[in-house]
Amino acid sequence: MKDRRAALRHLLGELIPRKASYVWEIGSGHGHFLAAYAKAHPLELCIGIDIASERIGRAERKRDRGRIGNLHFIRAEAEDYLASCPEDSHFETIFILFPDPWPKRRHHKNRVVTSTFLSATAARSRRGAGLFFRTDHEPYFREVASLLARHPDWKLADSPDWPFEEETVFEKRAPSHFSLEARRR
Ligand SMILES: C[S@@+](CC[C@H](N)C(=O)[O-])C[C@H]1O[C@@H](n2cnc3c(N)ncnc32)[C@H](O)[C@@H]1O
Repeated sequence: MKDRRAALRHLLGELIPRKASYVWEIGSGHGHFLAAYAKAHPLELCIGIDIASERIGRAERKRDRGRIGNLHFIRAEAEDYLASCPEDSHFETIFILFPDPWPKRRHHKNRVVTSTFLSATAARSRRGAGLFFRTDHEPYFREVASLLARHPDWKLADSPDWPFEEETVFEKRAPSHFSLEARRR
């Protein structure tokens, strides 16, 4: 783990300019959402991470075909990323779209969004930064809404103002979904 995080720290140090504010997507999958977002927002640096190298490969090919210079996809796990990203850069916007729901209670510990995750992302975000979460799994949605409502660093919006729409692979398959927005206090 130490070596993996050291390699990631080195890579991110090269990629992210000092004092940058940027868009981060966790579990970017095949890259549909972030590629479209980055293309529509060419002045924003966008970084998508995923643990599946095959998905990162597909997302990178999408980026290359679209010649989207402000976009990077990195194979990394969310906790590793948070432990390795440069301390002088910040998240402006965080997207989490259709994360694995881990429906069984004994597997909830594997979910990406936990109170520890919310504290770690808040520590890397400035006031007003946005966190956007979307899922088709209602119990996970309720859990994250409740974690955010209780969290000292994030303020849950009464009704989400979703900043950009582009259907993801999992969104296409889902009969319905739930979205929330929170802002860094
Ligand atoms: C259900 S898929 C959704 C993919 C995409 N967001 C979409 O909506 O089509 C969840 C994705 O999160 C990735 N993932 C799961 N746990 C992760 C973690 N701890 N850190 C980074 N990516 C993760 C998986 O490899 C997978 O690509």
